Amino acid sequence: MTSTVEIKVNKIAKSRVGEYDVNNVPFGKCFSDHMFVAEYSDGKWQKAYIEPYADIPMSYAMSALHYGQAIFEGMKAYKNEKGEVSLFRPTANFQRMNKSAVRMAMPEVPEEIFMGGLLELIKLDKDWVPSSETGSLYIRPFLIATDEAIGVKASDTYKFVIITCPAGKYYSEPIRVLVETNYIRAVEGGVGNVKAAGNYGRSLYPTKLAQQKGYQQEIWTDSMTHSFVEESGTMNLMFVIDGTVVTPKLSDTILAGITRDSVLTLARDWGMNVEERKVSLKEIEEAQQVGKLNEAFGVGTAATIAHIVAIGHNGKDYELPAVEARKFSNKVDQTLRDIRKSRAEDKHKWMLKVI
Ligand code: COI
Repeated sequence: MTSTVEIKVNKIAKSRVGEYDVNNVPFGKCFSDHMFVAEYSDGKWQKAYIEPYADIPMSYAMSALHYGQAIFEGMKAYKNEKGEVSLFRPTANFQRMNKSAVRMAMPEVPEEIFMGGLLELIKLDKDWVPSSETGSLYIRPFLIATDEAIGVKASDTYKFVIITCPAGKYYSEPIRVLVETNYIRAVEGGVGNVKAAGNYGRSLYPTKLAQQKGYQQEIWTDSMTHSFVEESGTMNLMFVIDGTVVTPKLSDTILAGITRDSVLTLARDWGMNVEERKVSLKEIEEAQQVGKLNEAFGVGTAATIAHIVAIGHNGKDYELPAVEARKFSNKVDQTLRDIRKSRAEDKHKWMLKVI
């Protein structure tokens, strides 16, 4: 999809970046100087602009609030030792956003608006990109329905917005996860494979219950039998079983994670056995019992590589080997950091230099 919308830029009078230590801020709470906005109405993208970060002017009847016509992406920009800023696989996020848009009956965002707005915004706010080893600028593109209307129908007007925030680790410690066999994240034919806002809202109550029991996240299971693992709240799931990298195969109910794809690509580059297939709880538990569950971890943009130290199921905790002993997830974590920081060859051309 193409467009000829020009991006108007209204710069902030004085940057706020000096008010923060960008290498040390809580995730998702401190927003950079500018935001990008594009507006859709009358069947086309009408205008696009960058402005100082501000609140959204909206009606209480705005349709996104009532019926959840809202999708988003999560992506990151990194600063290397020379101070250069690059994005990690931005085209993959652009493509996934438009897949979500189609599924949610929303207009696709033209590449020149998504990429043009993104590049312009990151250039302007380059000083907000952390330089620390595990820091990055977290980028949140989102698309929302903006009709002022209570009738249930696809909106006629939309806003596509990009906001950014410096971020460190999403999980500061390895996590304990609880297998969920009561509530459901996604069903066949549903929206579990796209980044619809409602997928996250519906997960909060079961996750709260899991947290009350001492777990940080859930492992969602299939809706029919609750016997196959699907994904975790904010991440895809991976296991190393007897030296083989095993992950649930993509389906209608699993998000096609970009970190997931990157990790599998590296594993294949390294000649490892990789299996994308249905993964049963029984298999995980049996592997743990005979000492063959070498590693379990979550992978995601925000979470990066999140080591799992225990899996709770049916009142029992299945403990995993010490994090230091985990060869694959530690190596993949380090390699991704090296690629992002320009210390390792970017063989797959994942990085896009911004400035
Ligand atoms: C991400 O990893 O970017 C996500 O979107 C997951 C979560 C922070 C909502």
